[in-house]
Amino acid sequence: MQGVNDLKQGERQELAGRQGERGPEHVAIIMDGNGRWAEARGLPRIMGHRAGMEAVRRVVRAAPSLGIKYLTLFAFSTENWRRPRLEVEGLFALLREYVEKETDDLKAHGVRVRFLGERENLPQTAGKVIERCEAETEGCTRLTLNIALNYGGRAEIVRAARALAFRAAGGELEPNDITAEVFAGELFTRGMPDPDLLIRTSGEMRLSNFLLWQLAYTELYFTDVLWPDFTQDHLAQAVAAYRKRERRFGGVHNRG
Ligand code: IPE
Ligand code: IPE
Ligand code: MG
Repeated sequence: MQGVNDLKQGERQELAGRQGERGPEHVAIIMDGNGRWAEARGLPRIMGHRAGMEAVRRVVRAAPSLGIKYLTLFAFSTENWRRPRLEVEGLFALLREYVEKETDDLKAHGVRVRFLGERENLPQTAGKVIERCEAETEGCTRLTLNIALNYGGRAEIVRAARALAFRAAGGELEPNDITAEVFAGELFTRGMPDPDLLIRTSGEMRLSNFLLWQLAYTELYFTDVLWPDFTQDHLAQAVAAYRKRERRFGGVHNRG
C-alpha cells in the first residue's frame, strides 16, 4: 500500500486542494516528540532535536507550495528552561547552527524570519544570531517564518497589558480606547493574521502555553507522528483536513 510519504509533488497538491485556494494562510506548529523519537532509538534526546531540525527544513520548503504565507514554529517555551541544563544548551547550540547555516538559503527562497518571545535572558550569542537573521531576511515576502523562542502565551499577554498600562499612565492612551485590535498590536505577532491552523505532533492534546490570544478561533489538528518523522506529506494532509472544516466564528451554518 502506498504510504503518505510516497506521494509525488502533484499528488500532494491535489490532496491539499488547489494551492492557496482556501488557505490556510497561517499555520502554527507545536513541534513535539523529539525526545521520544530519540529514546525509541536508544539515542540521547539531543539527537531527536537534531532530527527535528531536518523536519523544520522540510516544512519550511513545502509551506509556500501549499499556499501558506505565515508559518509559526514553537521552538522553545518559557517553561522549557526547566529541562536539564545540558539539553537547554544543546537546543540553543542547534538553534544557532540552524540559523547560521540556513539564513542565506532562507533568503534565497524568499523567507522572512522573525523571532517571537522574550529577548532578554537569552544566551548572548543566540541574541546576536537571531538579530542578524531577522535583519538579513527583512525584505523577503514569499513566506514569513516565525520562530517562537523563549515564548510563553501568558507572558506575552502580561507584557502587552503592561505596555498598555504604561501608555495609559503616560497620557498617550485612554483606557477606554483599548480594544482587541489595540491589544493585539502589543503582541509579538502584531501586524500578522491569527493562525488558521494549529498542528501539534506526537499525540499530545494541549496548548502548552502557545499563542493563547492568537489561537482563539484556530482549527486544531493533532497527529501521533513524532516531529522528526513529520514530512511535507504530513503537512499536506493537515492542510487537506483543514480545508474540509467549516469555520463559523460564532455564526451559523454557512454552506449553500
Ligand atoms: C519538542 O520535543 C522539542 C522541544 C520542546 C524543544 P520534546 O523534547 O518535547 O520531545 P518529547 O515530548 O520529550 O518526546
Ligand atoms: C511544547 O512542548 C514546547 C515546544 C514544542 C517548544 P513541550 O514538550 O515542552 O510541552 P509539554 O511539557 O509536554 O506540555
Ligand atoms: Mg514534548
